[in-house]
Amino acid sequence: MRFETRAIHAGQEPDPLTGAVNVPIYQTSTYAQDGVGGMRGGHDYARTINPTRTALEHCLASLEGGGHGLAFSSGMAAISAVLGTLEPGSRVLAINDVYGGTYRLFSKVLAAQGYRFAYADLTDEAALAEELAAGADAVWIETPTNPLLKVIDIAAIAEHAHAVGALLMVDNTFASPYLQQPLELGADVVVHSTTKYIGGHSDVIGGVAVTSDGARAEHLRFLQNAIGAVPAPLDCFLTLRGAKTLAIRMREHCANARRVAEVLDASPVVLETIYPGLPSHPQHEIAARQMRDFGGMVSFRVKGGRAAADALLRETGIWTLGESLGGVESLIEHPGAMTHASLEGSGFEVPDDLIRMSVGIEHVEDLLADVERMLAAAAGA
Ligand SMILES: Cc1ncc(COP(=O)(O)O)c(C=O)c1O
Repeated sequence: MRFETRAIHAGQEPDPLTGAVNVPIYQTSTYAQDGVGGMRGGHDYARTINPTRTALEHCLASLEGGGHGLAFSSGMAAISAVLGTLEPGSRVLAINDVYGGTYRLFSKVLAAQGYRFAYADLTDEAALAEELAAGADAVWIETPTNPLLKVIDIAAIAEHAHAVGALLMVDNTFASPYLQQPLELGADVVVHSTTKYIGGHSDVIGGVAVTSDGARAEHLRFLQNAIGAVPAPLDCFLTLRGAKTLAIRMREHCANARRVAEVLDASPVVLETIYPGLPSHPQHEIAARQMRDFGGMVSFRVKGGRAAADALLRETGIWTLGESLGGVESLIEHPGAMTHASLEGSGFEVPDDLIRMSVGIEHVEDLLADVERMLAAAAGA
């Protein structure tokens, strides 16, 4: 079955009791047993197993082309569990343009537990080779990265990582499984903040890890239950409902983002437009090869520094000034002061004149009218 069909049907048989076409929200903490140990379908306690969550896990595993999906209460919980499958003391080589919250988890939580992290610009082959020569147990990438939208060649980095015995772990949040499937390109584990494109409506926090490695999936299942960062049944239902329309939403996100990027690129107020779909993007060819389309995220640097960025962000109109991304509504933000503030002091701070847009699926002409107004405000700053 094709992607759109699996999004609607994988893991989502009509309810056996009533035929309900949607998997019910199994709002229960426990299950009746038919005699001691007589569980119905393996259901004993809802931290361990819940049918709404099981449906979501099957669906998302199918969309990523993986054998096993594990859902968590947030993207960060999924990332923590994935790292938890490595031994403390493991050396992890991470892309330097990593989500601020991931950097915080790595540097302030896991480093104190003995994990070792190195960061490098992994678009640079020489830097990659040098770091891998020092040994690594895992390589951690996002692609496109957040917020600089660097694109990493997943197949190539998987080969390099595997050559030194390291796993490749990919945060696929920015692309979504519709645009890119890292497991097929050689990755060992994929994670998502399902809060973003998969949920798609900015109404639920969640995460998922997908892998085809049975032993790692078992370890993740153990951690999911042992640590207990599981998503609530209603959140699983909302995320699953979002996933059903992922393909058509992504097509609109991509089409709108391309138009927005072209307008920004042509503006004299803009220092640099960063969008993998523009031929000027340094990894445009890689993106064209490994992604179905170029995504809904656009970043740009405005002339006039922080003052111009602030002036622009006071005139957002229908664009909502806010963190997060991937919802149907367009969002705009200042990464340095907002999503990536936790990078302060890391040496990986993002430029002060950088603005990040999550281009929604409103009518593109309405979005562009506000973009023009924002640019005029920046010009007058
Ligand atoms: C790329 C990326 N990964 C992970 C996360 C964390 O996800 P969550 O907020 O669902 O915990 C985010 C959140 O913004 C993100 O952008």
